[in-house]
Order: sequence, then structure tokens, then C-alpha cells
Amino acid sequence: MSETKEPESTPNNKRLQTGNIDNYNYEILSEDYTSFDMSFKLIVIGDSGVGKSCLTNNAIKNTFDDAYNATVGFEFFTFNIRFNGKVVKLQIWDTCGQELYRSLITNFYRNSSLAMMVYSINSKESFDNVEMWLRELRTHSNPDVKVFLIGNKSDLEAEREVTTEQGENFYKQNNLSLFMESSAKTGFNTQKIFVKAAEILYEDYNKYKDDNSSNDMGSTDENNVNNRQKLDIHNNKNKKGCCK
Ligand code: GTP
Ligand code: MG
Repeated sequence: MSETKEPESTPNNKRLQTGNIDNYNYEILSEDYTSFDMSFKLIVIGDSGVGKSCLTNNAIKNTFDDAYNATVGFEFFTFNIRFNGKVVKLQIWDTCGQELYRSLITNFYRNSSLAMMVYSINSKESFDNVEMWLRELRTHSNPDVKVFLIGNKSDLEAEREVTTEQGENFYKQNNLSLFMESSAKTGFNTQKIFVKAAEILYEDYNKYKDDNSSNDMGSTDENNVNNRQKLDIHNNKNKKGCCK
């Protein structure tokens, strides 16, 4: 799947709250919503300065800062969303792109269910380096990790160095789960990317449960503790990172 069309609207009137995506009704919940049915770890990687922190902050807190505050190590966020009555919690590790910290980041790959690889559309270098990021990820992560490719800073059309087609080709050639362009500045696609991440992980979890119904994974109506335990079972069997 790839979506790049920029809507003609201002940042504030394109905030998603409730809606329907691929036949799922969803509702974005507050960041401090404590109860959940399933939880997944997600890592955001890519070159320094491509906008990883701004993208995450915009999606979750609806903010944008023009000033560059390089992340030191990593920053932690949560994104909570209800799909068809079930609450999915994403535990997001926004990492720093600086080479100095690269070995630290690899520790986060191992437990992640999904990785967002970000480049900026006005930096060919950051796009060229996506190959290196994917290699690093494949080396250190679980083999079934889902991977998104995000071309950020789509508002900088006049400075574009990477075409949408180049992004799409990379996504197709490497069998990634999603490609989208985004702008942390205008809010274009920022929330949608995290909604899609939650949806893909939610579907994957349900598919696993269906495939293993003979293992008595239980009904979906049980309480949170039981669901977390079930997900732990799921992760141990699937070697997929998730859950605290
Ligand atoms: P590290 O933490 O060093 O890895 O960088 P990062 O990838 O987290 O980049 P960050 O989010 O800090 O953004 C870097 C710079 O790009 C800041 O000056 C932001 O204001 C700017 N920026 C981020 N996203 C966008 C965007 O979508 N459009 C524009 N025009 N600028 C952006
Ligand atoms: Mg950052």
C-alpha cells in the first residue's frame, strides 16, 4: 500500500479522532489511556534530521517545532487506539539518527514488532541510507518484523530530491508493509501512519489467534491481564517483540 496525495487542508482540521479504515471503526485515545487489550513495540529509525521526532510528536501531541533538537539516545511515546472495541497500545521508541548511538539502537530492534524507516524527500542522502537502515534492521530484528518506509517533509516540494516513485519502488522491491509520504509540519499523514501501524499489528495478532484457535487462545472478551498473557504466549511462539 502506498498513499501520497496531499489533502488541501490546514493542520488543525485534518486531525483524526474517529473514523473507518479498511472496514475497521477506530477511535484514537489519549496518550495516557491506561487500559489495553494488546500492546506492541515500534521503533522509528532513519538519518539524523529527517524528522523522526517531529513526525512522532505531530501524530501524538499535534505539535511541530521548527528548531532542531537532536534526540539523544531515544525518546519514548505511546499511541492508543481502539479498533472494533479492542484497545491497541503502541509503545514507540523514537531513536536518534546519529552514528555515535547506532550500536545502542540495535538493542531496540530485537523486540520491535514494527519499524518505521524515515527519510526526508529533500535529502537524497537520507534516502540512499535507507538501504543501510534496512540492512541493520534485518540483521538485528525478528525476521517477521513489519517495515514501513516514510518519506517525510513532503511540504518541501520545491526542494524535493527524491521522487514519490523512487520511494514506491524501494517499498515494492523490498516487500515492505507500507509506503507513505508525510509532513510533520502540516500534519499530512502523520496520524494515519500510526493508525495503519496499529491496524496491521492488530490484524496480524488476530490472524495468529485464528490460526492457533486449537491452542485455546480464548475469546476476545476476556480482561486485559488475560489478553496480555495471551499475547506473551503469542510472542514466545512467534518470536515477535511486544508487551510489557
Ligand atoms: P535526530 O533526533 O537527530 O535523529 O533527528 P530527527 O530525525 O528526529 O529530526 P527532527 O524531528 O528533530 O527534525 C529535524 C529538523 O527538521 C527540525 O528542524 C524540524 O523542524 C524539521 N522538520 C521535521 N519534520 C519536518 C517536516 O515535515 N517539514 C519541514 N519543513 N521540516 C521538518
Ligand atoms: Mg529525533
